[in-house]
Amino acid sequence: MTQRTLVLLKPDAVRRGLTGEIIGRIERKADWRITALELRTLDRATLEQHYGEHVGKPFYEPLVEFMSSGPVVALIVEGERVIEGVRQLAGPTDPIAAAPGSIRGDYGVIVRENLIHASDSEQSAEREVKLFFPHHA
Ligand code: PPS
Repeated sequence: MTQRTLVLLKPDAVRRGLTGEIIGRIERKADWRITALELRTLDRATLEQHYGEHVGKPFYEPLVEFMSSGPVVALIVEGERVIEGVRQLAGPTDPIAAAPGSIRGDYGVIVRENLIHASDSEQSAEREVKLFFPHHA
C-alpha cells in the first residue's frame, strides 16, 4: 500500500542538530522516498490550520508558540505503509513513554519538545501535504 505522509522536524530537532539523524532513519527504511523537503519558519496562520482540531485544548497555545519558535524541516515521504511507519519510528507523543529505539524515545524528554510530527491518517496526510506543499497536492 503506497502512501505519502507529511513530516515536520520540529524546532527542537533543528536547534539540536538532529535533522540529519532523523532523516537518515527515514531514508534507511526500504523503499521509502523523500519527495519534497524544505527548511522554513512557520507562521501562526499556517499553524492554526495545521493544528485546527486542537484549538481550545490546554496544550494548543504552547504548541503553536513552540512550533513558531524557530525553523522546521518539512518533508513529504512516500512509500509502503509510510503513514503508520513514520509514526512508529517517532514513538508516542510523550517521549518518556516512547521506547528506546524510537526517535522520541532516544532523543526526547519533555512532551512539548518531541522532535517530530507525522500525519496520523491518509485524510490528514492529504490535507497536510496540501497545506505545506501546495505544488505537490
Ligand atoms: S490528542 O488530544 O490525543 O489528539 O493529542 P495528541 O495527539 O497527543 O497531540 C496533538 C498534538 O499536540 C502536541 N502536544 C503537545 N504540545 C505541547 N505541549 C503539550 N503538553 C502537548 N501535548 C500534545 C502533540 O505533539 C501533537 O502534535 P504533533 O505535531 O502531531 O506531534
